[in-house]
Amino acid sequence: MRRSLRSLLVATAAASLVVPLWAGTAANAEPPGFSHADKDTLRNQAPRDLAIGSAVWAQRDLLSYDPAAPTELQRVLGAQFSSVTPENDMKWDAIHPAPDVYDFASADALVAFAEANGQEVRGHTLLWHSQNPAWVTAASSTWTCDDARAVLEDHIRTVVGHFKGEIYEWDVANEIFQDNWDAGGVRLRTEANPFLRACADDPVALIGDAFRWAHEADPDAVLFLNDYNAEGINEKTDAYYDLAQRLLADGVPLSGFGAQGHLSLLYGFDTSIQANFERFAALGLKVAVTEADVRIPLLDGETGPTPAQVAEQAARYDAMLVACLNVPACSSFTVWGFPDANSWVPAVFPGEGWATIFEDDFSPKPAFDAMLASLRDATPGISPRRG
Ligand code: G3I
Repeated sequence: MRRSLRSLLVATAAASLVVPLWAGTAANAEPPGFSHADKDTLRNQAPRDLAIGSAVWAQRDLLSYDPAAPTELQRVLGAQFSSVTPENDMKWDAIHPAPDVYDFASADALVAFAEANGQEVRGHTLLWHSQNPAWVTAASSTWTCDDARAVLEDHIRTVVGHFKGEIYEWDVANEIFQDNWDAGGVRLRTEANPFLRACADDPVALIGDAFRWAHEADPDAVLFLNDYNAEGINEKTDAYYDLAQRLLADGVPLSGFGAQGHLSLLYGFDTSIQANFERFAALGLKVAVTEADVRIPLLDGETGPTPAQVAEQAARYDAMLVACLNVPACSSFTVWGFPDANSWVPAVFPGEGWATIFEDDFSPKPAFDAMLASLRDATPGISPRRG
């Protein structure tokens, strides 16, 4: 079990004051008896205090996992990544399909895969306006704030409690701010999010309690705010920065800020990612890139990108990773699934695609090569980031 391994490493290091080369905080440490044949992988080249992750939809890709005969996706996932995030399996509609029904089957399969492959698990997500089950949508139309609080508290205590000790980081609150192009501008989603809507008089109190319930259910998990369009310094991350300060001043066990990292070549690249991470780190928070992908506008009739687009995609993936490497508080860097055939992008952004770091035959793209090179540069044994 990953948490007990982490505890063992910390205890061992503290007792002996000698840190073995494979220790650190154990994000990439291999459990006893576990080894990778190929050492030149993302997970093995990463600093020992930086988890390198991918999302995976367990219901689709892991339920039939046989360690003796992995699929190609499972083989690459196990070989390259030290962390996995359930792309859909821990969301409300999957895990809490009816008021009194919790279904942990596919999420448990993901945790089992992670344990078999010496990986950690990022939990995703507990409070979100999207992918809520029909029963929540229906019931919420008449909720009082107390009703919403009771439903959310039961969900968080049950789900976080079920995975206690198995999850190192939880996205507690996901996408709780609107964007500046939404009606009303950047403000808490007190219309789209059914829980925040029911508690619109004081949504910050509900958000704070969501973190408190999660912390009580698993005191060791690092608890994140998480959002898209949150990489650089902008109006939305200014709002998060204010919220984080307010929550911390109220004693809320907020401990992380995640930038999803969904980029598109249709837009310019924000060069303030490191500065943004540094200001959240200065509050005492961990930071993370939680859902990285870089989508490319594809010309009609073309199946692939141009060489210039391929190079630009690689540069952007690498720039997000390097920003993370340059900030010691950056604890995980996660790509949002692979290969391109599994990407959410074409369904949501018609005309854009090729967003992941692996081709559909699982061959690595230049983006993968760029990231691997940066990880190699950053890692002689224990992370140089920690001095
Ligand atoms: O749940 C049904 C399933 O029962 C059925 O077998 C299947 C048949 O196609 O459909 C399933 O629904 C799918 C759902 O994921 C799974 O719960 C939807 O079709 C699919 O559109 C949906 O998309 C996911 C999307 O979130 C939903 O908002 C994507 O896979 C997932 O990558 C995406 O992830 C989000 C992050 O959670 C938050 N940040 C943005 C990111 C990209 O949108």
